[in-house]
Amino acid sequence: MAQLVATLASTHHPFYLKATTMPPEQQMPQAPEWKRKIESYRETLERTKPDILVMIGSDHFHQIFLDNCPQFLIGKAPRYDATFYNEEREFGIPKYVLEGDEDMSSFMHKNLMDQDFDFAFSNELKIDHSIICPIITVRPDADLPVVPIYTNIFAPPLPSPRRFYNLGRAIRKAIDAYPSDKRIAAIGTGHLSLELGGPRQFMETGPDPEFDHKAIEWLRNGDIDAILDNVDHESMAKSGNATHGFLNFILMLGVAGPEAADYVDNLDLFHTMEAYFTWYPKEDAA
Ligand SMILES: [Fe+2]
Repeated sequence: MAQLVATLASTHHPFYLKATTMPPEQQMPQAPEWKRKIESYRETLERTKPDILVMIGSDHFHQIFLDNCPQFLIGKAPRYDATFYNEEREFGIPKYVLEGDEDMSSFMHKNLMDQDFDFAFSNELKIDHSIICPIITVRPDADLPVVPIYTNIFAPPLPSPRRFYNLGRAIRKAIDAYPSDKRIAAIGTGHLSLELGGPRQFMETGPDPEFDHKAIEWLRNGDIDAILDNVDHESMAKSGNATHGFLNFILMLGVAGPEAADYVDNLDLFHTMEAYFTWYPKEDAA
């Protein structure tokens, strides 16, 4: 069977590449530290020598719109174009073509359906910075096939935090059950407290630093009970109008299992807390 070799969960900051590659005299003061932290984080993936990346992200109204908006969707394409024009223009993110893995996508789709997650699917998915940002940070050569999974964190009503956690558990079971000798890494991105376009967008910190610190400790300790006791759609909305990206962290804790993280780092940037977690498997969820 396939082997899950690492689970990574992080924030995705679309300005990372631009912020760390512009001329040094123009860079923000935190840029060198940010780059060092990302390179350390990258090493937590590199050492596991993965063959396939299961990538969890969320379309930012680039391809999925309100006319037809699935809660959960899996890509089943042979390859995926990435980077939409506004992401190139605003963030300086280059275009990519990522290879897919149709066999693993098909297996995952069927297995997740059998676990009562009725996924939408797409054979023509184009992916956005929720998946390309972690490629840039932890696999910049973009040389591995991907199985992309999109979750709805933007257009309510959203699935519950518990549903996201249970989906993570189901994804873990599907990876463990995949009949292959491949080494799989699961990589998902979301947000801690975040405000986009609202009055709390450009504060010195994220809009709710208290939530950010609690969230980092919950994830560090693998404390899913504390998360489910303290986090719901209303509490996330109070912490910032885009804080529902935390749902993807909850999903990734489901993939890892309710375990303490093996690697935790964070960086306080103006208007957002960046956070980086890696778990190495200690259990066979199958
Ligand atoms: Fe985002």
